[in-house]
Amino acid sequence: MSTNIDNLWIFALASKCTQENIAYSLLIMALLWITMTFFYWSHPGGPAWGKYYYSSNYSTTKTNNKNNLNSSTKPSTTTSSSIFIPGPKGYPLFGSMNLMSSSLAHHRIASTAKTCKATRLMAFSLGDTRAMVTCNPDVAKEILHSSVFADRPIKESAYSLMFNRAIGFAPYGVYWRTLRKISTNHLFSPMQIKSSGPQRSEIATQMIDLFRNRHLHGGFCVRDVLKKASLNNMMCSVFGQRFKIDEVNERMMELSGLVEQGYDLLGGLNWGDHLPFLKDFDVQKIRFSCSELVPKVNRFVGSIISDHRADKNQTNKDFVHVLLSLQEPDKLSDSDMIAVLWEMIFRGTDTVAVLIEWILARLVIHPDVQKKVQTELDEVASGESCAITEEDVAAMVYLPAVIKEVLRLHPPGPLLSWARLAITDTTIDGYHVPAGTTAMVNMWAISRDPDVWRNPLEFNPERFVSEGAEFSVLGSDLRLAPFGSGRRSCPGKNLGLATVTFWVAKLLHEFEWLPLDEVNGVDLTEVLRLSCEMANPLTVQVRPRR
Ligand code: HEM
Repeated sequence: MSTNIDNLWIFALASKCTQENIAYSLLIMALLWITMTFFYWSHPGGPAWGKYYYSSNYSTTKTNNKNNLNSSTKPSTTTSSSIFIPGPKGYPLFGSMNLMSSSLAHHRIASTAKTCKATRLMAFSLGDTRAMVTCNPDVAKEILHSSVFADRPIKESAYSLMFNRAIGFAPYGVYWRTLRKISTNHLFSPMQIKSSGPQRSEIATQMIDLFRNRHLHGGFCVRDVLKKASLNNMMCSVFGQRFKIDEVNERMMELSGLVEQGYDLLGGLNWGDHLPFLKDFDVQKIRFSCSELVPKVNRFVGSIISDHRADKNQTNKDFVHVLLSLQEPDKLSDSDMIAVLWEMIFRGTDTVAVLIEWILARLVIHPDVQKKVQTELDEVASGESCAITEEDVAAMVYLPAVIKEVLRLHPPGPLLSWARLAITDTTIDGYHVPAGTTAMVNMWAISRDPDVWRNPLEFNPERFVSEGAEFSVLGSDLRLAPFGSGRRSCPGKNLGLATVTFWVAKLLHEFEWLPLDEVNGVDLTEVLRLSCEMANPLTVQVRPRR
């Protein structure tokens, strides 16, 4: 336990008190506590940063930086280890919890960073947690590519839901590296992605049949079909289980319910993660809900593992078989296997469905762009029945440009889903950043920054055609890195992109996508849950093209 000077003051004063004036001394202690709380809060970045500055070399910091505090210019990288990172104070004790508790946290963070003239790097406090965020591609690169930020902050719900034993929240180290290696070799390798092509094609056909049916009844919502298709796809790759997306299947419904519950628990801001005095009370019932969900997940995934073990004539090799066949030193315990499999289903489902919904929404709003994609599809379609194949899609130029443009304006993870944690002290953009600081990248703000993109709010896929065609969204260029970058970037990016591109191609080749009616256009309002979704699910009409 660390001893703070302010605590010693309180005890020293308390020791002077006699029984007669105990109330008086309590009052003094309360006043001291309030004074310290306001004192911490008075620092740039709010209380958590104030506490850090105070407990470290505050006096040197203060004298060295008196003249720098209001400077909005970038400090020199060599001498600024004692400069305060600019940022909002927020509220005493709570800091800027309000920024993150909003359903549009990425908007709020971006506008606060602008107000504080801290778009390169902004410090803020989430209760006792020191956080910082950048809305700048160069600083984003510095953070994401630094080995110091290869860890994730501890999140109670993630740990309760076993994600610390899966890739997403596993501490940076041997175990995490082993999991990345296994999934890269057996789930996300180009060969594996290619071999799962027929399954994507089959699910696309089911989706098309469903939409064709629905169109007979007028307008319809696309989200439930996209989510079912995406879940089915992951169940097939991971568990080797195939269902039809239009059938009412209890197993699929159960898993979909588990994913939705986990999604809400992991996506929300848990106040107990940042305010130690709330931790034990579980005021938002997150711990309680996790403890109810985990046995269900264990039962569900555990039974699939047992079935695979019992199946002696394995014909189709899925990811469960891969995990079961691992030998020492990579061999996983059953509970670790459950965590890994659950995470794959969990992460692979929502991101793909959310992105396709945004793409369809944009194509309904921009019929000229839609027409252009369809013309390109008609040109490349080569099969006997002129059906689109993945090989045809690989030859397209305009469709990938449309997908990049949607990823730019509507990244499913506007704050890159999960934050990073500094393992040791480091320097970012010339500022000293202590170990234990949570770092975020506001990719949404970067990809809408007029200093980075010309006419950033305009939907213009042409920017990724001709000279922009080579632009990679896979993490090498931080002006648009919707899958993150560096060591902890998304391992499922190629699989995710292959699925999204092929399914969108199939859906656009089959149908013309139209708004529900002239009055109710498409509402692009966002809501940030675990991913950033359309607040009002997309409702459309379709007209078959063939
Ligand atoms: C459109 C699709 C997808 C998007 C936009 C997306 C986005 C992201 C982002 C932004 C991160 C955090 C990266 C960082 O910290 O730098 C991430 C991590 C991750 N994603 Fe994806 N993702 C997608 C699809 C998938 C799929 C299909 C899977 C698996 C089946 C997957 C599995 C993961 C995992 C396991 C991590 C954690 C990586 C780690 O901590 O080492 N993602 N994803």
